Amino acid sequence: MRPNFPLLCICFYALLSSGTSSGDDRRWLVSLVDLVEFDYQDQCDQRATAAWEELLGSSKGLSLKLERDKSFGIFARKQKTDVESAVTTQALSADDDTLRRRVKLLLQPGDALLDTQQWIRLMTFADNALNRIRMSNDYDCGANTTCTLRELHNSLAREQDEKVLRQMKLSWESHLPNLHEYLESILPLLRNASKENQYEMVEEYWDALCELEGALLSARELWQRIRPLYIKLHKYTSMKLRGASTIGEPLPVHLLQSLTGEDWSNLIEKLLPQHHDIYQKVHANLQLKDIGGLKAFKQANNVLSRLNFGEIPQEILSESVFNGTCPPTIVDWCQPNKVRFVSCKDVSIQNYMDAHETAMKIKYKLITALHSNNTYILREAPRYSAIYEAIPGFVSLLSLNPHTLDRAGLYPLERFNYNPNYHRLVLQLIIALRDLPKLNYYIAADLWRLDVLMGKIPYPKIEESWREFRKNFSLIESSNVDVIGDPYILLNKPYTGKFLGIILKYQIYQSFAEELISDDSDLVKHVAENNQRLMDAMMQGYVASWPEMISDLLAKRENQLEFTGLTDYFRLLDEYLDNQLDPTNENMFEDYVEPPVIEPHDNEITDKIDTPLEQNNDETREKHKKMYDDIRENIIETDEESNSKYETSTVGVLEIKNPVAVEEKNDIENTKEASYHVYWWIGVAVALAVIVILVAIIVRKRRNHRKQLERQRRQITRA
Ligand SMILES: *[C@@H]1O[C@H](CO)[C@@H](O)[C@H](O)[C@H]1NC(C)=O
Ligand SMILES: *[C@@H]1O[C@H](CO)[C@@H](O)[C@H](O)[C@H]1NC(C)=O
Ligand SMILES: *[C@@H]1O[C@H](CO)[C@@H](O)[C@H](O)[C@H]1NC(C)=O
Ligand SMILES: *[C@@H]1O[C@H](CO)[C@@H](O)[C@H](O)[C@H]1NC(C)=O
Ligand SMILES: *[C@@H]1O[C@H](CO)[C@@H](O)[C@H](O)[C@H]1NC(C)=O
Ligand SMILES: *[C@@H]1O[C@H](CO)[C@@H](O)[C@H](O)[C@H]1NC(C)=O
Repeated sequence: MRPNFPLLCICFYALLSSGTSSGDDRRWLVSLVDLVEFDYQDQCDQRATAAWEELLGSSKGLSLKLERDKSFGIFARKQKTDVESAVTTQALSADDDTLRRRVKLLLQPGDALLDTQQWIRLMTFADNALNRIRMSNDYDCGANTTCTLRELHNSLAREQDEKVLRQMKLSWESHLPNLHEYLESILPLLRNASKENQYEMVEEYWDALCELEGALLSARELWQRIRPLYIKLHKYTSMKLRGASTIGEPLPVHLLQSLTGEDWSNLIEKLLPQHHDIYQKVHANLQLKDIGGLKAFKQANNVLSRLNFGEIPQEILSESVFNGTCPPTIVDWCQPNKVRFVSCKDVSIQNYMDAHETAMKIKYKLITALHSNNTYILREAPRYSAIYEAIPGFVSLLSLNPHTLDRAGLYPLERFNYNPNYHRLVLQLIIALRDLPKLNYYIAADLWRLDVLMGKIPYPKIEESWREFRKNFSLIESSNVDVIGDPYILLNKPYTGKFLGIILKYQIYQSFAEELISDDSDLVKHVAENNQRLMDAMMQGYVASWPEMISDLLAKRENQLEFTGLTDYFRLLDEYLDNQLDPTNENMFEDYVEPPVIEPHDNEITDKIDTPLEQNNDETREKHKKMYDDIRENIIETDEESNSKYETSTVGVLEIKNPVAVEEKNDIENTKEASYHVYWWIGVAVALAVIVILVAIIVRKRRNHRKQLERQRRQITRA
């Protein structure tokens, strides 16, 4: 097809020079935009091939990638000039939104508009730095051994010795590019890129790339509301790692077993609450069944297919590579089904969730490609869409849903149903360690860069400024340089889109979860049956900016970003952290958040289940079960932060709920031998029934009250 392009161009030029009625103008513009997009697609193909070679470590990979990336800047500038010259007021009529959108995206392709020399400097710095970090094999993995990046990640996850952890981090830092050079000649390119894209301030420019007015400001406001939870998690982590005396002081990054502190997942085993059966089993099952690499992606495919999105095609999996580093890197050729990724084969809950997120990202791209009338720029716009982050993130949340875990053979649903809230707490902790530090890191990285660019930091202090910023803003003791190992930093990309994506993913979760009749229902099934709103957003690609799609995406529940989706999601964790951190809460905490009776008693009892009770008391049992469900529904719905009245009622419910839950278990495991006195059990059951009824009545009343409060609260937070 390509050889025809010049010919076509000549025809169009002829057209342009002859007639200039508005219809001709428009036709000319459409044809030009089509051509430009074809050329972009070509570029994408070539850059992807080069990126892939480089990722796989082929000897010519890096130089090929540099060459392609450099020429892309020249290309993008030229296309912009061409499109600009064809845009006239007649050509762009007001009602032609799609064409307007395409033109706009082509006229503002972001950093690629930099002056050629400057663009080349940016790409050279970033490509070389990333290649070195990825391909070095002389990292310090402790015990005088050198290793690859992948092994470094693994050692970091396992190592317990503080000194060795610090050494590992230092060895990684010694592979980073020069901070001085970055601050002098790379970061300031952002000012020039803003100007080329017609923005005065870098912040405005970034907001425009994120397609939300005041995006960074919104992010800051959202962060203020989430910060208390982060601080609690930080304090709890500090307490568990170093004891109570240092609570509130900055935590050294290496103690977080992380290179930059944006993910604390490796700490999970040190932070688990007393009853963490679900973590142990999921972790053990993943290891036993060796669900890493390709196998993790096959599981992810199962989830995608359950969600009625369809699996990602076999050829994508078979041509991807699983002997690289995690998290996975996607390479997109901008052609039908031509997407590959590099991942690792290591087994962990994090990698398992990442596999789900990556698989959904790929599916997202395929769905967009299939429906956006296949125009390149509406699929691949150089914009940072929170929806593109949020939907895959939502699927990674679903990967730890109890029903999903059950289907994946990682944790049986029956077992989950004993102490659902306890298990939820553990799952929330796993997810919080992954997401909360990221939110903090993303916003810190953007704010710091803007501060540096706006001269808010005195020049002599500039090289220590990241460390200072991180200490104050994140309560993390980082180094001066660790931030420049990050591709988003090296490539001058804003993190705000990713930040907003994490916020939005919890709103999506909430919008579906609240539609469930009972909290025990299968959320994945429900999403599958109602996935149209997700499909619609994905199908539109970049036809509209993502904020315009929020309302439909959330089934009109909310039309903008709200922090409450996230804070409601982590409600149990929040309560748990409160109770762990405040010693004056100790009594209440013993009664309530950490129910010392739950697990041991459950286990004792379930091992000796009474079959006679089942036969004699079917009716009572049914009644109990129903009430139990009602009550549980009420518990799950609680989302007041510290409404003391309400908490008292939950305490009662939680105490009672568990013995009842044991009865429910009778259904499931009726093969166990009988050994307790039947009459004793009937007595207990009757007593419980009475209490349960009372509590149900109280709870129902409180629930009405609470709903009212909730409405008020929403009004307040919206205001
Ligand atoms: C590592 O090397 C140093 C010096 O080269 C040596 O003193 C130390 O014993 C070695 N440690 C181990 C664990 O081999
Ligand atoms: C930004 O552009 C100006 C003018 O073209 C140039 O003098 C300056 O060096 C550029 N900034 C950087 C960091 O290259
Ligand atoms: C990964 O596997 C590919 C083949 O699938 C091989 O060519 C490559 O050398 C391997 N890379 C590493 C780092 O083992
Ligand atoms: C695709 O094209 C059809 C017909 O031209 C149009 O109705 C539809 O809105 C377009 N879809 C998108 C996403 O632009
Ligand atoms: C530290 O953070 C607080 C708010 O979090 C801010 O008011 C203060 O100016 C910061 N200090 C420095 C030195 O950045
Ligand atoms: C959301 O809806 C409210 C009213 O319900 C409106 O005032 C606000 O402008 C809307 N926000 C967006 C981003 O559409």
